[in-house]
Amino acid sequence: MASIFDELIDRRASDGIKWLAYPADVLPMWVADMDFRSPEPVIQALRERVEHGVFGYAGPQPSLINAIVAWAESRYSWQIKPEHIVMLPGLVSGLNSVVRAYGHVGDSTIMLSPIYPPVYSSAYEQGLRPILVPMPTTRTGSTLRYEIDFDAFEKAITPRTTLMMLCHPHNPIGREFTREELLRLGEIALRHNLTICSDEIHCDLMLDGRSHITFGSLSPELAERTITLMAPSKTFNVPGLGCSFAIIPNPQLRQRMQSAISGILPHVNLMGMVATEAAFTKGDAWLADLQAYLTGNRDALVQFVTEHMPGVVTTVPEATYLAFLDFREVGLGKDPYGHFLSKAKVALSGGAGFGAGGEGFARFNFGCPRSLMLEALERMAAALP
Ligand SMILES: Cc1ncc(COP(=O)(O)O)c(C=O)c1O
Repeated sequence: MASIFDELIDRRASDGIKWLAYPADVLPMWVADMDFRSPEPVIQALRERVEHGVFGYAGPQPSLINAIVAWAESRYSWQIKPEHIVMLPGLVSGLNSVVRAYGHVGDSTIMLSPIYPPVYSSAYEQGLRPILVPMPTTRTGSTLRYEIDFDAFEKAITPRTTLMMLCHPHNPIGREFTREELLRLGEIALRHNLTICSDEIHCDLMLDGRSHITFGSLSPELAERTITLMAPSKTFNVPGLGCSFAIIPNPQLRQRMQSAISGILPHVNLMGMVATEAAFTKGDAWLADLQAYLTGNRDALVQFVTEHMPGVVTTVPEATYLAFLDFREVGLGKDPYGHFLSKAKVALSGGAGFGAGGEGFARFNFGCPRSLMLEALERMAAALP
């Protein structure tokens, strides 16, 4: 049966960087946005707001804050209070603000690797040192699963480590960590008195009908030391509208974040706030269809790699629309990205940029119509040595 997500929308004529960054003969499977139209209620709310015609400085309406609180309760059984929410114009600026707020020059942040680059580069940018702890993998046939080496993680902590940076679900490996894994990380954070920043931007993109567990909901003790970063941007494909938020239950930590962003980060985009409220109050049905479609894409990708890309190994994402492909066995060297760009005209995200353990890999974005995804995979299979 045809799906609304099968529609091929011409984005080259628009301003999307995903399609603008490469020549017309290249299929862009890189930056994490999707080639889907946002839900109709979101588009309708934006239309109505445009018709109002006055676009002054904007702040969050109580109805938006209530929508965020209700979303957290209904999707993750997480009880947050309106005052816990700090609105942000984006989550990369959120990551940098967290490091600025809670770290001191010379401190270190610790994280699992490979990881979304701004999570570690935020440390460099604020004068801290990122410690990247590689995740061991288990291979089964053509698939790869990442685990956490808790001992290695704890041993890597130094007296100057102040922040544990989580990416959960984890970009680029697509793991939704289990409650047990999260609790063990939490125990480590408590033992070493670390503040935790949990970037959960992909948390609504659960596949296979999974539910997301927010780090801040694990226990009152962990909630007190956790800054959770969230946004509707990945879920409803509105990253260009610049609306995200942090959830910080601890008033002292919240105050430090507010001081760190004050006068540096701009106001949150009013269209982003309109879109967020519409998405969180009227986007459930669309999201359920999206999750089913992405699960189907994930399955088709794993099947394609297994059947037509001998020697290539892929993650089986539990969340996100990102697969991390291992090309080490097929002899493409450290830079499969360059190979596929020149030989297949497919733009991936090079694995080396994701830090320790990423060399020889590339990230593939399957948040697109299935026909487009399969065309990119076919081009890549034909370009294998
Ligand atoms: C884990 C993670 N955090 C943050 C971002 C970017 O957030 P923003 O576009 O709001 O800066 C991304 C985008 O890919 C991401 O994957």
